[in-house]
Amino acid sequence: MGVSYVTYKVTLKCNYNCDFCYQSRDFDDDLAIDEVKKAISKIRREGCDMLLLSGGEPLMRPDIEEIISYATKEGLNTKMATNGVLLSKSKLASLADAGLDDIYISVGDMTDTNRLEILRRTKEMFKDCGIIKPILGVNVITSKSFVINIDKYMEWLEKLGIKVVFLLLPKPGLDNSWFERERLTLPLYLKLCKDIFTWKEKFIIHTDCSFLLFRRAISSGSKSDSEDEYKCPGGKNGFLLDNEGYVYPCSRFDEGQFCAGSILHKDIESFMQSDGFERFYNVLKKESSLFPPCLQKVRKH
Ligand SMILES: C[S@@+](CC[C@H](N)C(=O)[O-])C[C@H]1O[C@@H](n2cnc3c(N)ncnc32)[C@H](O)[C@@H]1O
Ligand code: SF4
Repeated sequence: MGVSYVTYKVTLKCNYNCDFCYQSRDFDDDLAIDEVKKAISKIRREGCDMLLLSGGEPLMRPDIEEIISYATKEGLNTKMATNGVLLSKSKLASLADAGLDDIYISVGDMTDTNRLEILRRTKEMFKDCGIIKPILGVNVITSKSFVINIDKYMEWLEKLGIKVVFLLLPKPGLDNSWFERERLTLPLYLKLCKDIFTWKEKFIIHTDCSFLLFRRAISSGSKSDSEDEYKCPGGKNGFLLDNEGYVYPCSRFDEGQFCAGSILHKDIESFMQSDGFERFYNVLKKESSLFPPCLQKVRKH
């Protein structure tokens, strides 16, 4: 299986301070634009067709349009996850001109009214500017608070006219107190899965890969989906590229021991055989499929 997607943390700088965030704030130098282009061409040559621009906050990069434009011209489907703070009508227009395919506004677990207001404002801007591409979606963290009130929040999104919802399971963050408070218990996981299948009638719902693993556990015996669909894709058909150009198996395994080297100096094929990826595959082998390793307390800080 070749690499089909890359998550690229274009910068680690951020203009928000979410209490759940797992992203460390080491402001090392971001790749210069020429290096970014080299990296994009390289992943495209290896057959990758989807690039998710993330961070940090991707809109903090002044050359984000140049990155998008280069990636789309290379033939990559280019998406962005953003907190939306820096979006304006003119910014949206320039992202659209650059060719961005999808934009996901992250609304945390929907308990922060400021974030809901950013989403409402963004949706309004889409309408005012008549933008049909990028497609607007939302990233939602399925915390305990969210799952308990899932109907209320999904109804709010439906009323706003949001069609695409990306659900992320809560992962351990830098500050573990949020995770301890908001992590899902088994009954809440089961409620979430049940409710999602109902809400799927009204939304296009995507889930992160850890969620697929969880689905596999709760639907054991089901023959409808292929086994491969539920295997962790990290380090196999996708990987993480960090702001300095280093490659890791996924965005939740971006610690030194899992690093495969720099995209500027090594071939993509060699990443798959690197010691860093090998360590990651070993972690996967040891963990139970019910709780994939990214949901465990893997971070010490
Ligand atoms: C790290 S952010 C980077 C991009 C951008 N700043 C944003 O907030 O969309 C990428 C996504 O990870 C999510 N995220 C951050 N911390 C998380 C956690 N502990 N558990 C689950 N998702 C988390 C965010 O909500 C966001 O949707
Ligand atoms: S989740 Fe995104 S917006 Fe929030 S602190 Fe992390 S990087 Fe910044």
